[in-house]
Amino acid sequence: MSVNKPVTTRNVTRRSLFTLAAAAGVGVVGACSNDAATTRTAASPSSPVRRVGPTDPLVRRTEAGRPGSGRTIGAALNATAMSTRIGGAPVQTWGYNRGLPGPLLRSRVGDTLAVAQHNGLPEATSMHFHGLALRNDMDGVPALTQAATAPGAAFTATFKTAHPGTYWYHSHMELQRDRALYGPLIVDDPHEPLPYDAEWVVLLDDWLDGIDGRTPAIQAATLSKGMGSTGSGRSGMSGMSGMSGGGSSTASPFLGSDGGDVNYPLHLVNGRDPLDPEVFRAKAGQRVRIRLINSAGDTAYRVGIPGVRLTVTHTDGFPVVHQEVDALVLGMGERFDVLVTVPDHPVPLTVLAEGKTGRTFAILDAGRGRRPTAASVPTRLGGKVIGARMTAADPSVRLAPKEADVTHTLAMTGSMSRYDWGINGRRYDESDPFASAVDIRAGHRVRLDFANRTMMWHPMHLHGHTFQVGATGPRKDTVVVKPMETVSVFFDADNPGQWLTHCHNAYHAARGMMAVVSYVQ
Ligand code: C2O
Ligand code: CU
Repeated sequence: MSVNKPVTTRNVTRRSLFTLAAAAGVGVVGACSNDAATTRTAASPSSPVRRVGPTDPLVRRTEAGRPGSGRTIGAALNATAMSTRIGGAPVQTWGYNRGLPGPLLRSRVGDTLAVAQHNGLPEATSMHFHGLALRNDMDGVPALTQAATAPGAAFTATFKTAHPGTYWYHSHMELQRDRALYGPLIVDDPHEPLPYDAEWVVLLDDWLDGIDGRTPAIQAATLSKGMGSTGSGRSGMSGMSGMSGGGSSTASPFLGSDGGDVNYPLHLVNGRDPLDPEVFRAKAGQRVRIRLINSAGDTAYRVGIPGVRLTVTHTDGFPVVHQEVDALVLGMGERFDVLVTVPDHPVPLTVLAEGKTGRTFAILDAGRGRRPTAASVPTRLGGKVIGARMTAADPSVRLAPKEADVTHTLAMTGSMSRYDWGINGRRYDESDPFASAVDIRAGHRVRLDFANRTMMWHPMHLHGHTFQVGATGPRKDTVVVKPMETVSVFFDADNPGQWLTHCHNAYHAARGMMAVVSYVQ
């Protein structure tokens, strides 16, 4: 991990862009389909730039340049209202193919995924493939990369999967994401270097939808009134004793003093609550690859198995220098792959809401002995505990040393009391997506400084790229930034288009902590 001093944003000179576009005779257009013909920028309101839109030939050319296997894998995802059982009672929610989580999408490097989505919901939806460097017009960001899918309509996202790893998909309507509209996506490496006997995909989620009359929309409305005045976002809700969230958030060395904004009645592992935990059966002595995905709305998790060491191998799909730890902390949107050796008795994969008081678990079961129960699951995970920023990129994926061609500062702004989360002082507005855009050019090494000017931690995510944290840190697409901290990340601009960057807290994102990283020509 290396945290560099923030530097001032150096803007691309818009005058030169204007001249270039005019000289090329292409005119000056906002290339995004939903946008007016001319886009203006906040920094220089009178100088239009030519943005590389999702339907730009450059996007198609980049896709054509990705290695292909010639194989296409089809999948169908139907978003509908559905009913499921959570906490021992039926719960109404929205999900994909009536599952919680949605089905596993799986391909090999070079394969094309063709994901046919049908919207059976009463409102528009859009599906995003989190962490994939995919073609921009399939990225699923409403009004930026494509139009949202209307109720009753369908959309098929077809794209090559270029990098192996643990990814996931979810609705990019942020409050829909805090329902069941998410699932795992794995891209296999045909030359997988890691030896293991079995694989366990583990999605972690905080849950409130349909419990005690709560919905993400009601929760968002409560929060937007401002925590300072009501504090009601954290009011205690009924739940399973000992497993539900407590009345307040607590300090965490990984997150700072405030773990989150929302008190969730339940936490789930693969859609299962602590009364009915998932059981993964394996043989004693086997090596299991666990793919951990934090798909929560507002909860970081600390994960470990008491008495079992975790060998950390990947974060956000990319390999890291292996490390043995006792537990890990993942923010929303982050993933970890770990290897464990299965002990000869059942053990709890323990999941603690970091900086909050809720917890849950699943069982890794080699068959002999008593299974852990909700009452026997530990309330603490100590020893060596790491977050992803305490890992280092495997040399095979480390960025080649190079000076950054451009640096942009993305300041996270806002406060709990006003609940006015934004970037560079501006709440993202879908109808004016480029108001706070930062402009980049294909071929450049880009440095982004995520500068947290708030008293809350934020897991910052960039679409379409896997940046490197600092000079030798991990390759990631989502990075935890603590209160008042600045984290510098670097990437090579090799995937032209319009890419969202945002906080992966569903409620912060819904309020506007989003901006566009915009390829211009
Ligand atoms: Cu998980 Cu904008 O994404
Ligand atoms: Cu945030």
